[in-house]
Amino acid sequence: RAIPLATIEHLDRFAGQNVELRGWVHNRTSKGKLHFVTLRDGTGYVQCVLKKNDVSDELFDTIGAASQESSLRLFGEVRADDRAPGGYEISVTGGEVLQSTSDFPITPKEHGADFLLSRRHLWLRSRRQWAIMRTRSAIMFSLRRFFDERGFLCIDSPIFTPSACEGTSTLFEVDYFGDEKAYLTQSGQLYAEASAMAFGNVYTFGPTFRAEKSKTRRHLTEFWMLEPEMAFATLEDVISLAEDMIVRVVSDVLETRRTELDVLERDISKLEACKGGFPRITYDDASKILLEHPDSEFVEGDDFGAPDEEILAAMHDQPLVITHYPKAVKAFYMKEAPENPTRVLAMDIIGPEGAGELIGGSQREEDLDTLLAAIAHHQLPMQEFEWYLDLRRFGSVPHGGFGLGLERLVRWICGIEHIREASPYPRMMTRIRP
Ligand code: 4AD
Ligand code: MG
Repeated sequence: RAIPLATIEHLDRFAGQNVELRGWVHNRTSKGKLHFVTLRDGTGYVQCVLKKNDVSDELFDTIGAASQESSLRLFGEVRADDRAPGGYEISVTGGEVLQSTSDFPITPKEHGADFLLSRRHLWLRSRRQWAIMRTRSAIMFSLRRFFDERGFLCIDSPIFTPSACEGTSTLFEVDYFGDEKAYLTQSGQLYAEASAMAFGNVYTFGPTFRAEKSKTRRHLTEFWMLEPEMAFATLEDVISLAEDMIVRVVSDVLETRRTELDVLERDISKLEACKGGFPRITYDDASKILLEHPDSEFVEGDDFGAPDEEILAAMHDQPLVITHYPKAVKAFYMKEAPENPTRVLAMDIIGPEGAGELIGGSQREEDLDTLLAAIAHHQLPMQEFEWYLDLRRFGSVPHGGFGLGLERLVRWICGIEHIREASPYPRMMTRIRP
């Protein structure tokens, strides 16, 4: 009978059985007639023990010469062992080395950021990156499941666009067959609004681009954004959707990615505190706090800078919702607050522990004339927004949504210092390679 192929993640399904494992040497130590290989197969890490008498001389000798990242197939028995990380160990009975490698550049010792980023294609094999990418994938799955279960339809927005959504200063221009200019999308929102008028509750989830000239620990030039949009929705609906989403994702990750969070030495209690009932504050009340704060350089009427957001968020252990920003600092499409036309029905969600802005959203202006005035005021090319204005001409309804920066969320949940580790192949102002 064929020996089953197992993955390290699911060794528990094969306890006591003989299996085949395929992977790479993460680490090897040898003691006389014993080799200990930490095998990684992408799903996990497991210790494989080779006793000289249990395997062929050829295998014993080739394994003895195989260093980090040598590729191999092993056969052996899955043995439960409480002392082993993950609870299992493999007693090897056979196998083969596919390629014996030496001098893998990324060793467990410390390397500088530039060294690692230049070797991102290899760096991804390290245990820490393994933990981050598996958590990122779980977060994406959890997000999609959250929206799908609530009946939101996934409708993609295009990536080539003829106009700006979030201000004209961060647009990447692309040559589109010579005479036409196109831009890489900054946000799928405008199309998500059209989709919401067609399908009700929708979301778009994909890459977005910003020509950010800022080199911070929170900015990428290419990042993924998840943007739900709801027809017949108010700012209140938008906030509660965002809150439910964050609580759900954090709880899913705590349930399914414990091992990975352990590898990252993440303080779980910070995530467990994220239970819902997020604190809320208006822009005006937040301004008062900042104006009196000795460490803040906040100027009344301005948007909050990252240090201001940090001061405010540090007062809470759950994400903080800030609402009713000045119209002057926000995008053209936001709806004016009925009680004060200098404010808009906007909300930002600022993560705890220095996570910064995770989410930006709003109720949208549904009135045609007010929107026309806003587009003119922002000096945006009216003809490019004609299709968008149609949404206010044909069955306009109150609606709203938000954008969640995936890598910002990954950074916070994983407790990562710099956002570059939250993206498999990060794109920043000074880096597009590998
Ligand atoms: O606040 P932003 O600019 O909002 C929008 O784009 C809206 N159109 C979204 C909507 O309502 N549908 O961006 C949304 C989120 C931010 O809160 C942040 O998490 C993330 O996108 N983000 C970035 N993440 C990484 N690198 C950057 N340069 C980012 N810029 C924004
Ligand atoms: Mg924003």
